[in-house]
Amino acid sequence: MHHAVSYCGITFENPFVLASAPPTAGPDMIRRAFEAGWSGAVIKTLIPEPVNNLQNRFAVIRHGNRITGFENLELLSEITPEAWYAAIADLKREFPTKVLIGSIMGDARSPDQWISMARGCQEAGAEMLELNFSCPHGYPERGKGAAIGQNPEYAAQITRWVKECPDIRIPVIPKLTAAVADIRHIGEELAAAGADGFCAINTVPSFFGFDLKTLRPRPDIGGFTSYGGYSGPGIKPLALRAVSELCQSPGLPVMASGGIANGFDAIEFMLLGAPVVQVCTEVMLKGYGIVEKMMAELEEFMGWHGFRCTDDFIGLRRNAATGFGKLPTDAECHPAVSSERCTGCGVCVIACRDGGYQAISLCESLAVINRERCSGCSLCRHVCPSGAIR
Ligand SMILES: Cc1cc2nc3c(=O)[nH]c(=O)nc-3n(C[C@H](O)[C@H](O)[C@H](O)COP(=O)(O)O)c2cc1C
Repeated sequence: MHHAVSYCGITFENPFVLASAPPTAGPDMIRRAFEAGWSGAVIKTLIPEPVNNLQNRFAVIRHGNRITGFENLELLSEITPEAWYAAIADLKREFPTKVLIGSIMGDARSPDQWISMARGCQEAGAEMLELNFSCPHGYPERGKGAAIGQNPEYAAQITRWVKECPDIRIPVIPKLTAAVADIRHIGEELAAAGADGFCAINTVPSFFGFDLKTLRPRPDIGGFTSYGGYSGPGIKPLALRAVSELCQSPGLPVMASGGIANGFDAIEFMLLGAPVVQVCTEVMLKGYGIVEKMMAELEEFMGWHGFRCTDDFIGLRRNAATGFGKLPTDAECHPAVSSERCTGCGVCVIACRDGGYQAISLCESLAVINRERCSGCSLCRHVCPSGAIR
């Protein structure tokens, strides 16, 4: 099986790349990640100003033992752009087959900042460049990060500055936020400005609530908090929606990011048309070693379908999501209860009674569906704890 993927003319030995984040905060970390099997890494975003991070800047949502949501109030790279250029050059010498991607954030009114960092990354050996138009905290209140990604005019102007610079030849990839009304529109404006592809999505602005004993917000920074970036499994549907829209229009190649926790998550983005998938939160929680399981899951999936190379399925379901008005109106759903599996717990009866069509009752400890009342909404199947309704 061939695991390699091609993105903007660059070959990645597998689809799994580290997103710009703490796991790519320094060259020694990227070195260990490459040794573990990641095919590429986006460096932590460069910014031409000192970065002083707040303490206690993370919060989580747990479901049982699993962390399903992660919030951060972290800023950009604490390492200066100049130090990063030297590090990129060293990494490139040591790992010539791995892909190093620069990531930069400048001032929305300063072409010089964007161009000088783009040049610095390229001259050091970075093969691609992300323009960070999407960090949701710390920077938007100063007109940067997501404030740029939410303003198609600014985002297109900056893309044009970099693309129209004749000595910048590497692909330029704006990293987008899903916190916009119409991501296709932003994508189309940036495609017209010369973007070579997109990375979508960054973290999503959020508020992780309160500790009800102390009445302090989460994360608690001296009794206050700010709206931080939500990442991890909880944002996967938002990321899938954004990637799906961008892959349909304007159709430039997308690197997917957002809630990818295993190989099967990654494949869902690849089916939409994203050849490369980026991971941050799951690596922060479980370490670089998860890439081995991701590779095994990719192989397992390819085996199910007899796919021999990634091109056999990248984009295969690009048009799976369509306009609501185009959905077939004659697709039917007739729930059926398995008498072997039904435990008579009554969960489906309550859900259908108070959230559905009062179509289920228990008869001798077995759920029975009244077909006349049933509207085929599927709620019962989702709430059944024993998988007895199909
Ligand atoms: C602590 C933390 C710091 C991050 N820093 C950056 C950054 O410097 N630049 C950037 O483009 N994205 C940054 N991100 C966003 C990630 O690259 C990624 O797009 C996002 O977390 C969604 O992916 P995930 O669900 O796999 O974490 C950061 C995310 C986290 C959790």
